[in-house]
Formats: sequence, structure tokens, C-alpha cells
Amino acid sequence: MVAEALLVTYFFMEAVNMEKNAESSLIVGNVVTGNDFFGREKDIEKFIGLLRNKSNILLLGQRRIGKSSLMLETANRLKDEFICLYTDIEHCDSPEDVIVKFGKTAQEHRSLIKTIKDGVLKMFGNIKDSIEEVSIDNVAGVKLREGANRNWMNMGEQLFEWLSKADKPIIIFFDELPIFINRIMRDDNKNITPERQKVVDVFLSWLRSSGIQYTDRIRIVVGGSIGIEPLLAQINLSSHMNTYTAFPLPPWDTATAMEFISDRADGNNILFEEGAKEYFLEKLGVAIPHFVQKFLQNICWDCLDRNSKNCAISDVERVYNDKLLAVQGSIELATYVERLERTLGSEKYNLAKELLSEAAITGKLTGKAAMIITGNYYSNQNEKADAIRFLLKTFEHDGYLHQSGPDYVFKNILLKNYWIKEFSFNFTPANQRVEFNGVSK
Ligand SMILES: Nc1ncnc2c1ncn2[C@@H]1O[C@H](COP(=O)(O)OP(=O)(O)OP(=O)(O)O)[C@@H](O)[C@H]1O
Ligand SMILES: [Mg+2]
Repeated sequence: MVAEALLVTYFFMEAVNMEKNAESSLIVGNVVTGNDFFGREKDIEKFIGLLRNKSNILLLGQRRIGKSSLMLETANRLKDEFICLYTDIEHCDSPEDVIVKFGKTAQEHRSLIKTIKDGVLKMFGNIKDSIEEVSIDNVAGVKLREGANRNWMNMGEQLFEWLSKADKPIIIFFDELPIFINRIMRDDNKNITPERQKVVDVFLSWLRSSGIQYTDRIRIVVGGSIGIEPLLAQINLSSHMNTYTAFPLPPWDTATAMEFISDRADGNNILFEEGAKEYFLEKLGVAIPHFVQKFLQNICWDCLDRNSKNCAISDVERVYNDKLLAVQGSIELATYVERLERTLGSEKYNLAKELLSEAAITGKLTGKAAMIITGNYYSNQNEKADAIRFLLKTFEHDGYLHQSGPDYVFKNILLKNYWIKEFSFNFTPANQRVEFNGVSK
């Protein structure tokens, strides 16, 4: 009896610990759902409201803000009401790839296995009788690829039609659509070509008309970590997204970020000294959940190394400089540079880097400074103005700069400090250039 009671107590304590671990865990990088998904109740409520209202959604938000997590958390919460199909298309190279990947997601969904498999096999002249039951899965997969390669649009239309007959309405999440679009609109030298532009046009038209055709049964959510609007504006295809309701996902507000820090600090036995939490958020500038998690994780490790529970303002400062901004610690920040390189041609990429350096180093990007810097890339006044307008839109959309009065400034202080560290070495601010007053300084 005693042993049994002890065993029960042990399992109870284990369960309590597991729960505590789940709640206090710091997750950096992977998508978060369930207990690990913090806050965002109002965002989820609005998002779900739109889906119930049969909207197709364009989920917007800067890097690492939690877009994928929001999609997957929503999918979890709605699983009794909708069939949710989440497909990350970041690595797809063509519309054919998207259809195959999406078809496989559908085929692997518990409640759709039969519909999709039967549909595919029927489409290929009911070969079901001639194959053994065990190999039907493989054959259906192969046929899906064969169908997409032969005519991806036809295969896609078939998939939508089968899905529209499922017993519950469907939500299709296409994550990283802009990265896919950016890939297919450029050739190997990263140049946009008319042929590739056409492929984008056909793909987005197809997606839009499929969304419209099955409004009652299927909702489409597209999201991604680069702005689709500036991307499509480059090839005059912005109108393809106008049937989607834009849903901007903001950073955590200060209250939520504070609550998260207190909650995880408690769970990990960390005591922030007076003012230290506020300083933590001040050093980030904006509470992007990923960087809040990462900063906190590094503070926990620092406490562990110091054999201390206490975290003072000076510790926050040290961890920020030595860990978050360290060369090895700033991979995510480096992707802010790499993303620009990937989505802008080389000329605009170099210009973008300079404009951002000006904003980081001098504290703001003024119109005059922007024109001077852009003068090294374009001589025509209209071209200069167009390039600046396009880049400012991209910067704003992707969380680099924000408008402040007539100027543009970094709100993301971590990114600003990273930029200064990376690019100040050989950068000359506009007001120190010959062109500033027409005289050399
Ligand atoms: N609601 C949340 N609660 C707790 N942590 C979160 C939340 N949302 C995001 N995070 C943190 O941010 C990280 C990135 O989340 P996620 O991958 O969902 O962002 P994303 O916007 O899709 O990123 P990317 O721009 O790279 O696609 C997670 O690993 C986690 O640390
Ligand atoms: Mg994501």
C-alpha cells in the first residue's frame, strides 16, 4: 500500500514537473504551439473570426514574429471544426512542386486519405485492382507527381475539387509563399525574366481563382517572412493579392512581453533586479517573440555560469553585447542581410545596405541623405525617387525601418546595433560626403 502511494505521489510530482517544464521552457527557433504558445489571444480570436467568415488571408509580419506558430496554433484549435492543411513551400522550385507537396499534405491527413487516394487512382484509370493494397499509398504518391508534372494546374484543380467535398470545410495554409514567388520569378543570376514573370502570373491567378471558386468550402491563408507586396510590385502583379484580407501580426506589446519574461523567469528561478526587465526590453526595441526568447535563454545560461539566480541591469547589458550581438550568436540577424540580398537585385541590395547603414549610424535616414546615397547608383531623378520609395516600402514591411516624422528610423534596436557593428567600419555618412553641400568636408 505504502509503495503504491509512493508511486502515485511520484507520478503526480513527475506530472507537475512536466507541466512546469512545459510552461517554463524557452524555445528558440522551432514553431511553438499549445503550452509554449504565449499570449496572442486577441490575434487568434480575430484570425479565427476571419476564417469563420470565409475570408482568404494574407498573414503579414516581420521576421520571427510568430507567423508560422500562429498558423499551426490556429490549426490545432480549429481541428474539430475544419480540416487544416499546413504546407511550407519555402523550398519548392516550381508550381509542380507546390502541387505535389500540397497533395501529399492532403493525402496524409487522417480524414482525407481515402478521398485523395481514390481520386488520384481514378484519375489514372482505376489501376487500384491491379496493385496490392500495401503499395496503393506509394502508387498514389507517384501518380500525384506524374499528374502534376503533366499538368500542374489540372492536378491542382482536381485536388481543390476533392477537398471541397470533404465532410468539413478546409483551411489551406501556404507558408513562405513570398520566398517561393521570389525564387520562381528570378533566373539563376537572380534576374527577373518575362518567362518567369509569366509563371508567377499563372500560378497566382490559379490560386486566386481556386480561392474564389470554393469560397464556401475552402479558405486559403498565405504567409511568409518577406513582404509579398513589394515583391509583386516589381512585376506589376500586386492585384493578384487583392482578394486576400491582410492580417498584420504585430510584435508583442510591452505588457505581454513583460508577462512572458516574468513567467519564464519564475519557471527558471531567475530573479530580475529592479529595472532589469525594462532594460531588457529597451535593448530589443521591439518585442519580437523570437528575440525575447533568445535573450532570456542567454540570461538563464549566464546565471547558470555565474551560479547565481540574480540578474542585474549590468548582466542584461553584458549578455546583450557578448551573446546576442556576438558573431556566433547573431545568425538570425545575419538573415536580415541575406534576405535583402536574395530578394533585391545586386544594385538595389548594395543601395539598401547603405541606406540602412545611414539610418543605423546617424540615428535616422533623411530624404536628403537618401537622395545623396542613391545618387551613386542612379543619375536620373525619377529613377532615384522610385528606388528610394520601393526600398522604404520593403524596409517598413519587413521590419527594418519605420517612419518617424519626415524621416525613417530603426525601431528594432537589436537590429540597429547589429547593423552598426557589421557595416560602420567603411561607411561614410551622407553629411560627410562631397555631395552634401557641394563641398568636401
Ligand atoms: N506566441 C508565441 N509564444 C512564444 N514564443 C513565440 C510565439 N511566437 C513566436 N515565438 C518565438 O519566435 C520563434 C519563431 O516563431 P515562428 O517560426 O512562428 O516565427 P515566424 O514569423 O514564422 O518566423 P520566420 O519569419 O522565420 O518564418 C519561436 O521559435 C519562438 O521562440
Ligand atoms: Mg515562419
